Amino acid sequence: MDGAARRFGRCRGLQAAVREKPRPDLTPAAARPSPRCGEGLLPGGPLHTTRSPRMAPAGWSAGISARLACTLHSVLCTLVGRGNGVDFQDVVVKRRMVRSFEAKPLPAGAAQRIVDNARRGPSAGFAQGIEFLVLEGPEETGRYWDAELPEPYRKDFAWPHLLDAPLLVVVLSHKLTYLRRYAEPDKGWTDMDEARWPVPYWHVDAGMAALLALLSAVDLGLGACFFSVYDVPGFRRAFAVPDEYTPVGTVAAGYPRADDRPSLSTRRGRRPRAEVVHRGAW
Ligand SMILES: Cc1cc2nc3c(=O)[nH]c(=O)nc-3n(C[C@H](O)[C@H](O)[C@H](O)COP(=O)(O)O)c2cc1C
Repeated sequence: MDGAARRFGRCRGLQAAVREKPRPDLTPAAARPSPRCGEGLLPGGPLHTTRSPRMAPAGWSAGISARLACTLHSVLCTLVGRGNGVDFQDVVVKRRMVRSFEAKPLPAGAAQRIVDNARRGPSAGFAQGIEFLVLEGPEETGRYWDAELPEPYRKDFAWPHLLDAPLLVVVLSHKLTYLRRYAEPDKGWTDMDEARWPVPYWHVDAGMAALLALLSAVDLGLGACFFSVYDVPGFRRAFAVPDEYTPVGTVAAGYPRADDRPSLSTRRGRRPRAEVVHRGAW
């Protein structure tokens, strides 16, 4: 085991990243076929039951290919200033973890959009016990990496350009906010007993917020990755984060490098629908 893997031995997430050394045969992201606009919306596609309201009307698209319709839609969106015109279904299909970024600042307003969208996530009892530490620019993100991946360990790190991401958003959950909220009269769990909770909703909500941040980055034409906070005590010390907040993970966002490569984990492939979807009964 090399230095970084040893140091982060307790963190399976980073261990995997450290193990995943660059492979010359891995196809660069730029050369990989990316999902096409409209894919998944066409009859016969993996998902053909939903229509996004941002798609062209049905009668119109019947006569024109869905791709042309999407292109026109994108151009119109760009002209009227509605983001980059990426259809929601495309955002979902295109999203993948990007771990290598250009050392290039985000467009104005992008960080705010990503964080504001993450704030719009659902929360149990509308408790909203999720908070964000936003680090933008090399000075702020540098302090994160100094705490999380100090210099001696960087040479072994499999994703050196992860450290170039111009934006890091650490998503933190605050369990007490949830226990207090559910002790209110409309919920009634006045004993604040954690055993009542089917699953820790504070972490569920953090995951929902993080996913919104990831999708927002894609919608802005950027890439993003969610990863664990490897050294929680070091992170707390560096940013004076109180113990009662749990850093659930960090979203890095920025412009993907052309040589970004997927994690080896993705070679497992997505499990087929029939294996994971149980209709009517298990
Ligand atoms: C809870 C969670 C923790 C993750 N932690 C890490 C991590 O520490 N390091 C990493 O490189 N990727 C991490 N990932 C990304 C997964 O490896 C990735 O989502 C998975 O391989 C599927 O790839 P895709 O998201 O590109 O489709 C994490 C994802 C989730 C949901």
